[in-house]
Amino acid sequence: PETITVQELANRMAARGGEVVKALFRMGVMATLTQSIDADTAELIVQEFGHRVKRVAEGDVEIGIEGDEDTDVDLEPRAPVVTIMGHVDHGKTSLLDALRKADVAAHEAGGITQHIGAYQVTIPTGQKVTFIDTPGHAAFTAMRARGASVTDMVVLVVAADDGVMPQTIEAISHAKAAGVPIIVAINKIDKPGVRPERVKQELLQHEIVVESLGGETQEIEVSATQKLNLDKLLEAITLQAEILDLRANPDRAAEGTVIESRLDRGRGPVATVLVQKGTLKTGDIVVAGAEWGRVRAMLDDKTRQVKEAGPSLPVEILGLSGVPTAGENFVAVKDETQAREISEFRTRKLREKQVAAITAGRGSLADMLA
Ligand code: GTP
Ligand code: MG
Repeated sequence: PETITVQELANRMAARGGEVVKALFRMGVMATLTQSIDADTAELIVQEFGHRVKRVAEGDVEIGIEGDEDTDVDLEPRAPVVTIMGHVDHGKTSLLDALRKADVAAHEAGGITQHIGAYQVTIPTGQKVTFIDTPGHAAFTAMRARGASVTDMVVLVVAADDGVMPQTIEAISHAKAAGVPIIVAINKIDKPGVRPERVKQELLQHEIVVESLGGETQEIEVSATQKLNLDKLLEAITLQAEILDLRANPDRAAEGTVIESRLDRGRGPVATVLVQKGTLKTGDIVVAGAEWGRVRAMLDDKTRQVKEAGPSLPVEILGLSGVPTAGENFVAVKDETQAREISEFRTRKLREKQVAAITAGRGSLADMLA
């Protein structure tokens, strides 16, 4: 297996060599700056220093460190990724449906849209917006737990006739914890006697100060069923996207997150993935979670075959060896050998985690042997 010297590892993390030696010592590894350590140990050190391990293949010490990302010139604008959240029955699905009907591209394609967990709409201005339709908060929580950050902003749907409810509060805390900006959509304003002002007051108690009350959170009063102010909501989304200045490098190996997955009787494992960096192409060899395979076909949310998928585009991919877990990361790799190595590495890590969880449940190893 390949190794990396302590000095080289320290350089890549922009850390002092001595600090890395000390951290290794604490882990029970004696090494000097010029000595080499294996990939597993290097990975632990990288995590200990608070960096993210992007890709670690056994026999291939590839440690992606926050900061060694694409340079400015590589980056091109990409569509915002938006998640709609809110309390039960406040109109999330209705709003998504209404926004989807406003999709110019859907009409061009003949209007047959299939339900996948994420889709991209082309809004009347010609800009593109990707929506993630996570079934409830569970999926969002699962993704966050795996460290996946997929969404650029949250549209918080609050029904004007019901106001701030438990799941509204939960959504606010999720968005805040993830550091993601919120746009409030006060829905069902077509209902007689509703008081949107009351919703704004209630939001204040959760430290959401909307613009009309002098704050910084955009709020739009909408009706999903009557299609009122949907254009204003889209405008708010594109404005927020502009502020965030969302960019990605399309000219590199694809990387992203599994949004959902299932085993299809005829087609085998099917995964909906969101490309976040690079461009995914049919024929690419990918590792998704602990599964891998060659991308046999890709379909967009309108069930059209696509050959390429760039940043912010969600696609269904066929060809994986198994069904990856939603929230897992996926990467395109150079060949099957590398894919197999990463897949084995991840499978082993997964097993170790499971064993660790069991052991923790039972007490220490010594207790078990006693
Ligand atoms: P869950 O997925 O169960 O959490 O609900 P949801 O938030 O997706 O709500 P959904 O879109 O299913 O809407 C719930 C009910 O509210 C349905 O009966 C909708 O017809 C109704 N509804 C949604 N939006 C509006 C609106 O703008 N005005 C009115 N009057 N009714 C609405
Ligand atoms: Mg719904």
